[in-house]
Amino acid sequence: MGSVIIGTGVALPSRVVTNDDLSAIMDTSDEWIRSRTGVQQRHIADPGVGASDLAAEAVAEALRNAEMAPQDVDVLITATMTPDQYAPGIAGMVQERSGLGHIAAFDLRQQCGGYLYGLDLADALLASGKARCVVVVGAEVHSGYMPYGASWEILRGERPGPVDPVDHAAATEARGWAVLFGDGAGAAVLTTEEDPGTGFIGSVLRTDGSHADLIEVLGVGFRHQPYVDTAQLEARAHWPSMNGMELFRQAVICMPAAVREVLAETDLTIDDVSLVIAHQANDRILDAVRKQLGIDAELIPSNIARYGNTTAATLPILLHEQQAAGRIRPGSLVCFTAFGAGAHWGASLYRVPGTR
Ligand code: ACO
Repeated sequence: MGSVIIGTGVALPSRVVTNDDLSAIMDTSDEWIRSRTGVQQRHIADPGVGASDLAAEAVAEALRNAEMAPQDVDVLITATMTPDQYAPGIAGMVQERSGLGHIAAFDLRQQCGGYLYGLDLADALLASGKARCVVVVGAEVHSGYMPYGASWEILRGERPGPVDPVDHAAATEARGWAVLFGDGAGAAVLTTEEDPGTGFIGSVLRTDGSHADLIEVLGVGFRHQPYVDTAQLEARAHWPSMNGMELFRQAVICMPAAVREVLAETDLTIDDVSLVIAHQANDRILDAVRKQLGIDAELIPSNIARYGNTTAATLPILLHEQQAAGRIRPGSLVCFTAFGAGAHWGASLYRVPGTR
């Protein structure tokens, strides 16, 4: 039996913030962001909208497209690094809001690797017979991290400038990472198909905790007593801290290595792959992965210009778009790969059901 994707869905907040909008509230430029990352704009959730809201919207669309009812789902896997609140996770919120039964529902915390882990876990549950229909959703609202203060009102078009100099300084301090991210969610519904040669046919998942400091949020954690205090906030410990260059280096080493490994394990080569759905962190990372794998640019699509890095949501959003564009062709081989904070990374191979 193979685990197959029978429907996908996405949720993207309607508000869009361009690089020029960011240039109005911090010391940055469209040219800098675009040339270093490929990002041109990102979708931004309104205050009060959480990852669980976007996740539930994406799940609803995925179920509609799969022609499945909420009652058909017997496991829900939610991947996010930006939960609505510290505890509990978002799985229960999404289960309840999506009208799913009292099923097994749980969060994964593998950041940009979260969706890849979710797909693999869904495949294992389906293959073992423990589940018959699994929904995997990745959702993020990164906006909560952004230290824009009253400048949010300018970004949302609620008032024109001027920008408060204190807010400008804080946003500029965060510009190295703040410009990269966007909000969004994507979901897929998986079931089983009789033919064992279809669906997920191989995967490699890896973790190296010695790279946890490549990108991390040190503050607001229970090693610290109390787990949150003003000293942490003043030290910006609730902000992500990122070693951008080393993160870049590891991502371009680890993703191609995982792709090669899973291909070798399944006795396939890169020439058998029709499409690589890779984590959308940065166009330069995608280009380096493409070169290492020796594939054409059209085989490794990018949508980062429109969404920025949506962490656990990048893979399902891109999958949904490629599906809509008719690029997930029957019988073809799709490779998923991701690298994320932790560090967690890997690759999987998916044989699309149907004959070529
Ligand atoms: N606008 C203008 N200038 C900026 C900005 C900005 N948004 N951000 C940083 N700079 C400045 C820096 O202050 C620095 O100035 P200085 O030389 O005067 O000190 C200069 O630009 C160069 O900064 P670097 O950080 O060295 O820039 P680099 O060329 O390494 O590019 C980048 C930074 C784009 C973050 C790159 O390292 C990268 O892409 N890393 C991968 C990070 C990533 O993808 N993170 C996503 C999360 S994790 C994941 O998804 C895998």
